[in-house]
Amino acid sequence: MEKHWWQTTTVYQIYPRSFQDSNGDGIGDLPGIISRLDYLQELGIGTIWLSPVYQSPNDDNGYDISDYENIMAEFGTMADMERLIAEAKARDIRIVMDLVVNHTSDEHAWFMDALANPNSDKRDYYVWADPVDGHEPNELKSSFSGSAWQFDAASGQYYLHLFSKKQPDLNWENPQLRQAVYEMMNFWIDKGIGGFRMDVIDLIGKQPLENTTVNGPKLHDYLQEMNQATFGDKDLLTVGEAWSANPEIAKLYSNPTRHELSMVFQFETMLLDQDPNGEKWDLRPLSIPALKAVFVKWQTQLGDEGWNSLFWENHDLPRVVSRFGDDGALRVESAKMFAIVLHMMKGTPYIYEGEEIGMTNRPVTSIDEVEDIESRNMYQERLAAGYKEADILASINAKGRDNARTPMQWDDTPHAGFTTGTPWLGVNPNYKTINVAAALADKQSIFWTYQQLVAMRKTNPIMVWGTFENIDQVPDQVFAYTRTYAGKRWLVVANFAETATTVKLPDFADSSVIIQNYPDLALNLSDQALRPYEAFVVEVAPTE
Ligand code: GLC
Ligand code: CA
Repeated sequence: MEKHWWQTTTVYQIYPRSFQDSNGDGIGDLPGIISRLDYLQELGIGTIWLSPVYQSPNDDNGYDISDYENIMAEFGTMADMERLIAEAKARDIRIVMDLVVNHTSDEHAWFMDALANPNSDKRDYYVWADPVDGHEPNELKSSFSGSAWQFDAASGQYYLHLFSKKQPDLNWENPQLRQAVYEMMNFWIDKGIGGFRMDVIDLIGKQPLENTTVNGPKLHDYLQEMNQATFGDKDLLTVGEAWSANPEIAKLYSNPTRHELSMVFQFETMLLDQDPNGEKWDLRPLSIPALKAVFVKWQTQLGDEGWNSLFWENHDLPRVVSRFGDDGALRVESAKMFAIVLHMMKGTPYIYEGEEIGMTNRPVTSIDEVEDIESRNMYQERLAAGYKEADILASINAKGRDNARTPMQWDDTPHAGFTTGTPWLGVNPNYKTINVAAALADKQSIFWTYQQLVAMRKTNPIMVWGTFENIDQVPDQVFAYTRTYAGKRWLVVANFAETATTVKLPDFADSSVIIQNYPDLALNLSDQALRPYEAFVVEVAPTE
């Protein structure tokens, strides 16, 4: 299998609105990001995935784009964007853009034309359907609550919006629309970007009148066409967001012989703490054996026919220490354990802003503190359906997207050094202790574990290419596996629970420690004591 830079890199995701404000308006911006590039260089990452920075009315914070070839005024200008690409490049960092092409904003010129002139050639860029018995064409739901169909009285038709009403779905069956998307992608490629993260890409083949949304019949034809028309001959990082992917589907996207994408984000681990018959808001406790089984499946089933992406967090997910670990007394230990386990698996690792300092969820006590459209719509829908307000807020505190979107905590000055003004979303009150300045000053902080892992990846091909093998004979709460490459073997052991345990690994002779999350590890593999959330990696004798 041919080797690519996007397999060896570590990616850092920036949610621009929340990263760094430079002009005191309370909103993060591109000059703010540029001013923090030295910090990212210190962390050692090679790629930034930038959540959308295009012109947008911000119904869904930039995931509703009204002009793909202009920068949101609040974030800066195209000149700022070009400077960001150049300044990042000077530090060996590539910029991966968010590509949101399942839908646009309803304020995009195409949609405004489609609405105003039903005879315009832009009408068919979107998905329209006639009423059925005076109602919506069918029962399809929006991910942001309510029907996915919105009535347009002027034309007497409905348009499809799988997200908010202000995010009309594009019609990928229209060849002119597809060409327009490819031209826009080439506009960005010509600016020297490192690739694309493709928003809800598994939806573009939708056949809404057949009730098909994900994995539509032409999805992969479109991606192959896109590849040929845009990045196919470039060696860019392309990662598709695919909530519906299993390993077989992931191979369709990422098998190099198919010429589609580099990799997909799969979310099977992220579904484990929800009721399988409910929505993400319907909580259930995480089963550690189930988590391990999902990891093992993905680590072993792609083989050479695909490539994994590895992540705990993004701008849609809660903070991992709060979700699966301990955001109190064992915050540092659990955060480091998650980092070690993830970065030691096979695939490209992604770090979400603030994860590297162990930022936590931010609980709210009232819906007035919530900005996110998904949480706000769900709140109204569930109140109307008779849920108790306290239960709805508990769901939001566990899973709401604002948890990950609170401003980056840079230091202990007011508003965590994020802004001199009033932040658009409240800063987590724990910023006085959890912040970048404090993390950099403390050699035992979570930051330095991340820094070490990112650095190790550059000089240890075993981390990138090593074969993964799970170790079965361990307690339920322990995840243990090996990576093997070119005559070397590393053993990874991690206790996922807040309770101590012991693991017996007599087959592995004690050897040198590569990384650990408790400074005073006492290695004894044949009868290894593991403290709460303890994790380590040791080099062991290879079996071959
Ligand atoms: C993706 C994005 C999310 C957005 C949605 C609609 O899931 O990650 O933030 O709301 O698509 O664009
Ligand atoms: Ca600003």
